[in-house]
Amino acid sequence: MRKNQLFFIVTAFIALTALHVNAAEPRRVHLIPEPVSVREQSGEFILDNSVSLELKSKNKQLQQSLKWFSAKIQRATGVDVSKSNGSKKITILLNTDTDAEIGKEGYHLKVSPQQIVLTANTAAGAFYGLQTIIQLFPSDIEAKQLKAGLNWNIPSVEVTDYPRFGWRGLMLDVSRHFFTKEEVKGFIDEMVKYKYNTFHWHLTDDQGWRIEIKSLPELTKKGAYSVKRTGRWGTFLPALANEEPTYGGFYTQEDIKEIVKYAQDRYVTVLPEIDVPGHSLAMITTYPSLSSTRKQYSVNSGWRTDPQDDNSLDPSNEDVYKTLDKVFTEIAKLFPCQYIHIGGDEAYKGYWEKNPACQKLMAKEGLKDVEQLQSYFIKRLEKILESKGKKLIGWDEILQGGLAESATVMSWRGMNGGIEAAKMNHPVVMTPWDYVYLDLYQGDPLAEPDTYGLCRLSDSYNYEPVPAGLDEKLILGGQGNLWTESVPTYRHMEYMVWPRSIALSEVYWSPKSKKNWPDFMSRLENEFTRLDAADINYSKSCYNVIFKPVKEGRNDVSLTMATEVPGLEIYYTFDNTFPDLHAAKYDGSVLNFPMGASQINAVTYRNGKPIGKQINIKKEELIKRSEAARHVY
Ligand code: ACM
Repeated sequence: MRKNQLFFIVTAFIALTALHVNAAEPRRVHLIPEPVSVREQSGEFILDNSVSLELKSKNKQLQQSLKWFSAKIQRATGVDVSKSNGSKKITILLNTDTDAEIGKEGYHLKVSPQQIVLTANTAAGAFYGLQTIIQLFPSDIEAKQLKAGLNWNIPSVEVTDYPRFGWRGLMLDVSRHFFTKEEVKGFIDEMVKYKYNTFHWHLTDDQGWRIEIKSLPELTKKGAYSVKRTGRWGTFLPALANEEPTYGGFYTQEDIKEIVKYAQDRYVTVLPEIDVPGHSLAMITTYPSLSSTRKQYSVNSGWRTDPQDDNSLDPSNEDVYKTLDKVFTEIAKLFPCQYIHIGGDEAYKGYWEKNPACQKLMAKEGLKDVEQLQSYFIKRLEKILESKGKKLIGWDEILQGGLAESATVMSWRGMNGGIEAAKMNHPVVMTPWDYVYLDLYQGDPLAEPDTYGLCRLSDSYNYEPVPAGLDEKLILGGQGNLWTESVPTYRHMEYMVWPRSIALSEVYWSPKSKKNWPDFMSRLENEFTRLDAADINYSKSCYNVIFKPVKEGRNDVSLTMATEVPGLEIYYTFDNTFPDLHAAKYDGSVLNFPMGASQINAVTYRNGKPIGKQINIKKEELIKRSEAARHVY
């Protein structure tokens, strides 16, 4: 009892103090991801023609970054800070003695009315500091053209910052739908704003082989194209007889080099993924003899077949290893990344079980089952990669049948694979689907483009990559993963990636102790104005109503409603009219459908204005959801 009273008094005091600070001084600094330490001060640095950049370092890469920085500032403001004779300085220093606090990617930033000083140990750290300076400017700094007549002031502040994890990645699947070289560069530009440093490039799958392999030119001639289909993924009509596969594309090795360099200039490591032994239909379409069935397939546009296509390479066929050796020889030369991702996920093994050559190999090698056969395959790849000076990383199925000695595991089917690998002292990148998969619905499916599953913005934000009891050092970090089965365009890609990847950037960069959902949302809303200025098609689904069915016996349901964003109001109707401010306001209680009502319309409001989409949900749909084994929406 006494404890509770004390808790109440302390909480009330903290809340009142916070209110007082907020009321006295509106926040001027809205950084994302939240830095380790931010101390706002009075006054501001005014950007005008008297400002110039001063770099106290000969670092070539940083000189390059400063060109990017001044061009970015000049585009919207018209001010050229790259000149050398300004009286007011933005000074960038690289430490000669390492500052242990900020490490390899951290920085100190001090903005005062007279000067900006940015200090880092490395060019990468300085680059993240430059990103922070850009974020301190008004939102229109993100505009693609000159914005005349605006004030370009940034608040005085002291920031100390460094990341929680060294691996902060986003994955883009360019197999299910091809994204052009320029689009990939755009993706990289967007990710570095939030201090991501790893671009995981899913280059091959059943729907297309996207990278030129000079010693195997057929792979892209044949494997890069399918027939075009539109609609709901998985329901597509297979290729018709004589239908020409013309949909797709690939990157030449020159394109790859250009993108790797583009990424390097932005301190991003490109991790290439060649997904084997499963998900290999594009390769098998090109070389049918590499599968167990040796059947001629065509590159899959997104149809399902029964029995399923044989999209797994045959681990008993030496030609498979010879072919992959050629592939990895070229991949290893193109990508400086110390890792190559070999996929390893969801390999269908049914045809291995029927393949006499696989049975013979299993008997010879003493392999008990097809999981061990898969492990044999992965271990052969580990040796191939080692011979090219590369380390193997794969999806968590590579644990099945025994993990290769030097493998790093990317855990996607949940956290368990990562936990198992870490317990065996293997490094882990955590990407559990229910928190970081960017292809999932991010709000009620009734208001979203077709896909599957659910991962709300708050799910991503609340994700904690280090399970209790595990050595944090073994968790290299994490990613957001965008599979593109249902994402055919760049604009749609942006919609899926943002803002969930902004939430994830904070999970991977910011101190765990700083996690605070309402505070994040308030900074994110400021960030939305920047995304608007940059014309990025981010999702606003976090503003939509969440319907929660309450089962009322057979064939009946009532409901409650909620919002992800704090402080919104919900208005609703049962008569299929738009819920305006004269409609019923939701008070948090369980709602029963009035006699005869078969649907409810609901909209969120803030300050008397609708902010979410109107969503209409049928009673029937709520009954269906209430009876589902797992409520996902
Ligand atoms: C995966 O989502 N199949 C890695």
